[in-house]
Amino acid sequence: MSDYLRCDQTPAWAALRGHFEAHGRDFDLREAFARDAGRFAALTVQVPEIFADLSKNRIDAATLRFLIDLARECGLEAQRDAMFGGAPINSTEGRAVLHTALRAPPGSGLFSAEVQAVLDAMLAYADSVREVAGDVGGDGGVGAGSGFTDIVNIGIGGSDLGPRMVVQALDAHAHRGLNFHFVSNVDGHDISQVLRGLDPQRTLFIVASKTFTTQETMANALAARDWFDAGGGGGVALGVALDRGKHFVGVTTNLEAAAAFGIRTTFGFWDWVGGRYSLWSAIGLPIAIAIGGTGFRQLLAGAHAMDRHFAKTPLAQNLPALLGLIDVWYRNFHGFGSRSVAPYHEGLRRLPAYLQQLEMESNGKRVDASGQTLPYATSPVVWGEPGTNGQHAYFQMLHQGTDVIPVEFIAVKKPAHGLADQHQKLLANCLAQSQALMLGKTADAAAAERAPTASTSMPNDALARHRTFPGNRPSTTLVLDELTPRSLGALIAMYEHRVFSSGAIWGINSFDQWGVELGKALCNALLPRLVSGDVQGLDASTAGLLQRLRS
Ligand code: F6P
Repeated sequence: MSDYLRCDQTPAWAALRGHFEAHGRDFDLREAFARDAGRFAALTVQVPEIFADLSKNRIDAATLRFLIDLARECGLEAQRDAMFGGAPINSTEGRAVLHTALRAPPGSGLFSAEVQAVLDAMLAYADSVREVAGDVGGDGGVGAGSGFTDIVNIGIGGSDLGPRMVVQALDAHAHRGLNFHFVSNVDGHDISQVLRGLDPQRTLFIVASKTFTTQETMANALAARDWFDAGGGGGVALGVALDRGKHFVGVTTNLEAAAAFGIRTTFGFWDWVGGRYSLWSAIGLPIAIAIGGTGFRQLLAGAHAMDRHFAKTPLAQNLPALLGLIDVWYRNFHGFGSRSVAPYHEGLRRLPAYLQQLEMESNGKRVDASGQTLPYATSPVVWGEPGTNGQHAYFQMLHQGTDVIPVEFIAVKKPAHGLADQHQKLLANCLAQSQALMLGKTADAAAAERAPTASTSMPNDALARHRTFPGNRPSTTLVLDELTPRSLGALIAMYEHRVFSSGAIWGINSFDQWGVELGKALCNALLPRLVSGDVQGLDASTAGLLQRLRS
């Protein structure tokens, strides 16, 4: 850490500050396109599986040069190499960060033998479940005539968001004889609704928890076990005694706890796989059951291609690094506090939720890796909904609100359905939104129009002010040819490395999550008070609310 210079103390930061004052604050996208006919070509990049249009961002060649200088002065490349090399960069937990090793081809990458052994076993199990899926002639469990129809993943955070998002996204590639369910919330409504209508004889539960101690997951796993032992809450008349060992599998680093729970089949992973980076490990079991061993290996291969891109490509063409740098530019110089993600693909409807954990749990920190309080902002708020739904909800604010919120559009060229006309409409909407955000509409243009629903009593110039769009609102568009296991793997890995890049510039540890601890501890202390009603020593608000909830 001796040559560590905080990003805001580097010469590049000072240069960026000067560049922002001279050219950044008043940067106008429309003028930039008018000035430079080569802007689109210069600010687009084709990387594995993704074409990225950065040209509707408030950047130009000079901005990128200064940002790349910043990356160099903050040691982004050295930090990246340390991660790939297995250095213990998660300093507060003394751990390496090696999710990239999970997708390295057999025989390459760190811990290859262990990784491949678990992967082979997990994929063999997944394929055995798929082979007899829906074949309901026998007693349930794996084996001829004993197929499952329903897979229930019980997990939360990284043990839920990644598998859930990927299984939904790859629905077109999934086994048609299986229904997938995801239970995460400690709220009993979640598991009750999932269990309703399930047949214990045909249900496989995956208990997914890195630690196997998480309150929500343990509560839901116990509820599922009780339900199963009671033959489906007593609602299903069973002619056979069911073997719990065939219907519950575990995925965890805590093999002893899984065994103590009564689970016989467990797939392990390692403490160098962070929860929010774990879908590539055995935590991906629901994905492997959905798309099969071959599909899962394609997902890993897509991610590995992105790993190579991030590790080897010069920063000027390195998409995760460029996006991470633009995030810093927007957060710390423009002062934009959030970023909206709009995937124009229904399958990606949980991508924003997945990215919230990836980005905000990783970079939502206020001290640097050495514990010094930071004088600058870090993670933006990340949020969004799939297009076109978001257009009919909050896009009003994106177009005319007082905050500038950069938007990230994701478009997929080829759909997995045959409704060509609807797909054209979807793509036209996606293009129209980024165009509208950038171009806006002047008051003169608004005044020259007659809006059919506008009041006839309001003066035209006042009305025009309501119908004016400032424009110059930035966006990025990512284009995939098709949503496949491979392209999705590349997309997710791209986001992981982008979060790494901005975190590395900010000098923070992107791989711990101490911010979730306090609430967990206080919850454990409040639980017995909810039962006993003891409010002694509590603050007045918590005491009052507790009493209200008990009465
Ligand atoms: O929310 C905190 C957290 O530790 C996440 O980082 C993690 O993904 C989640 O809880 C679930 O943890 P586990 O997989 O150990 O149940």
